Amino acid sequence: MRHRSLDMTAGPPLPRGYVFDNDSPHSARHHASLEAALDPLTLGHLREAGVTPGMACLEIGAGAGSVSRALLRLVSPGGTVTATDVKPGRIAPEPGLTVLTHDVVTDPLPDGAYDVVVARLVLQHLPERQAVLGRLVRALKPGGLLQVDEFDATHEPCLLAPSAEDARLYERFTTAKSALMRAGGGDPAWGRRAPAALREAGLTGLRIRPHVLLRAPGTPALGLQLHHLAHLAPRLLDHGFTPAELDRLGAMTRAPEFAAATGVLYSVQGRRPLRTPLSTTPSPEAT
Ligand SMILES: C[S@@+](CC[C@H](N)C(=O)[O-])C[C@H]1O[C@@H](n2cnc3c(N)ncnc32)[C@H](O)[C@@H]1O
Repeated sequence: MRHRSLDMTAGPPLPRGYVFDNDSPHSARHHASLEAALDPLTLGHLREAGVTPGMACLEIGAGAGSVSRALLRLVSPGGTVTATDVKPGRIAPEPGLTVLTHDVVTDPLPDGAYDVVVARLVLQHLPERQAVLGRLVRALKPGGLLQVDEFDATHEPCLLAPSAEDARLYERFTTAKSALMRAGGGDPAWGRRAPAALREAGLTGLRIRPHVLLRAPGTPALGLQLHHLAHLAPRLLDHGFTPAELDRLGAMTRAPEFAAATGVLYSVQGRRPLRTPLSTTPSPEAT
């Protein structure tokens, strides 16, 4: 049987940029799943890179701020963390943590200010990702560290499902999720392009770590997928899915015989060179 692909010409026009929304009722659990699934990886790599007390750090698109809070513990005493987001309302303030409403595409960033900059699951949503990357690099002090953690979400295979039809429905959903991201100007495959993008932005000493997580009932990685489904449900309904199919997706992914893999999360680190001029042009606010 041939399945329909997501029809982008049907339904209302899709907004550009981030396809999820921190103001949605699903957002708190979405961010809790991100924290449980990914913080051990993100923070492990920051620790290994030598993030230590006294450092000045920036996290862009900080979501609910779990990485920023953990980063603050790594750099205390004496360090600071600035956590920014277009919608930072879920980030609880605490001493040493500066929380800013900030659009990384359009709002200024200070030049050469940070020892560490972190961006997790933000750049792939932004059509302007390469220009933003250049701005993040310029925000680093010479020798400073940028860590970018991003998925290649274009291959999220179903490994076990209650039936072959369920497996096809799940894969149709993951394909549709990528199509919705692309329609908003995002790049669901950007994780695999991130190393080359960091090199193009002038960073050196690249370290690349790929990770795949299991999505099985009770795992935070499946929780993340279920929150993607909840966030995207209205758009999936507008673009060819039926309410019964969305209900079935929710039910079968909670069945004990369900298992899938995430796409590959690429955690990529690079450093701003100490002396070599960057290949990118200076930002207006730095001139
Ligand atoms: C998938 S969430 C990731 C949150 C957090 N980095 C994490 O991994 O737990 C993406 C975040 O990027 C933020 N975001 C989207 N577009 C942005 C922009 N132009 N500038 C700053 N933040 C943005 C969203 O509001 C959201 O909090």
